[in-house]
Amino acid sequence: MKRVTFMVISFRSTTEPQQGTGRRAGRQPLDPMGLATTPVPAEETNGAAMVRLEAVHKSFGDNLVLDSVDLSVDHGEVLVIIGPSGSGKSTLLRCVNLLEPIQAGRIFLEGEEITRKGVDVSAIRQRIGIVFQQFNLFPQLTALDNLTLAARRIRKIPRKEAEARGRELLASVGLAEKASQHPHQLSGGQQQRVAIARALMMQPHVMLFDEVTSALDPELVGEVLVVIRNLAREGMTMLIVTHEMQFAKEVGDRVVFMDGGRIVEEGPPRDVLDSPKQERTQQFLRRTQLAHTLEELALDEEGGSE
Ligand SMILES: Nc1ncnc2c1ncn2[C@@H]1O[C@H](COP(=O)(O)OP(=O)(O)OP(=O)(O)O)[C@@H](O)[C@H]1O
Ligand SMILES: [Mg+2]
Repeated sequence: MKRVTFMVISFRSTTEPQQGTGRRAGRQPLDPMGLATTPVPAEETNGAAMVRLEAVHKSFGDNLVLDSVDLSVDHGEVLVIIGPSGSGKSTLLRCVNLLEPIQAGRIFLEGEEITRKGVDVSAIRQRIGIVFQQFNLFPQLTALDNLTLAARRIRKIPRKEAEARGRELLASVGLAEKASQHPHQLSGGQQQRVAIARALMMQPHVMLFDEVTSALDPELVGEVLVVIRNLAREGMTMLIVTHEMQFAKEVGDRVVFMDGGRIVEEGPPRDVLDSPKQERTQQFLRRTQLAHTLEELALDEEGGSE
């Protein structure tokens, strides 16, 4: 067995500021063909953040899972969320996508309150792409049909147009040749790239990623991270829950560390990950580092290094 590490790919540093805390003003505009996204310039939303949470409380019964969370994500910003299991990371993403109701507080998308009564949930969800650890592809459909189904049914886009866009998106995630394959004929990394392309079909304004590489074999992690990195370079606004700390440093504009439903620490990735101020963050990162080291040692023992 090959020795694999968590840095499967090396991410080229870009000309973008490494330590920014917000918008990437210097980024290229989104993909020139306008396939993936329809950016809404901040000016058109009166400078409002892409996503803003205001004193959000979320409980499951007696279990307070989000404890007055305030968070703002700018247009084009890549926010990485880290934290121990059960700290509320997935719940936060699910609340933003209106998959979970909140008990108090407000959530805004491009300046519009989306937690208000009577909101058109389906219309809001079309502006928010979400990708989970499990790919949730329809097994009976080809990769291309997985991409086009919702666009044709919900957006009423004609089949020909939807398929043309679907093929472009598959090509953009390196899967041009796989359009007519079914999920079981694809590797985990390929399936996850199909799932990302499927989310992009609806031309979301923001993408939410919830540990999208956690179910993958280590050697397949890199190909998925490359797709996300490319989206970042195109200026996509993203909230990314991940355990890939190197990736967080390379691609994130800001890292948020959550614990017990609260944001404990946030800042530029290198500050939070290399010199965390809070004891709780330090403890979490030490444990994460130890887990990675042990995993690498185990892999070494199985097969030795290359
Ligand atoms: N549908 C649900 N019903 C009841 N409790 C839930 C539900 N979803 C999450 N919880 C609880 O909310 C808390 C936060 O869960 P969440 O999945 O957001 O954590 P997480 O930070 O994403 O953890 P992990 O790193 O393990 O994915 C946990 O205590 C969990 O048990
Ligand atoms: Mg989770």
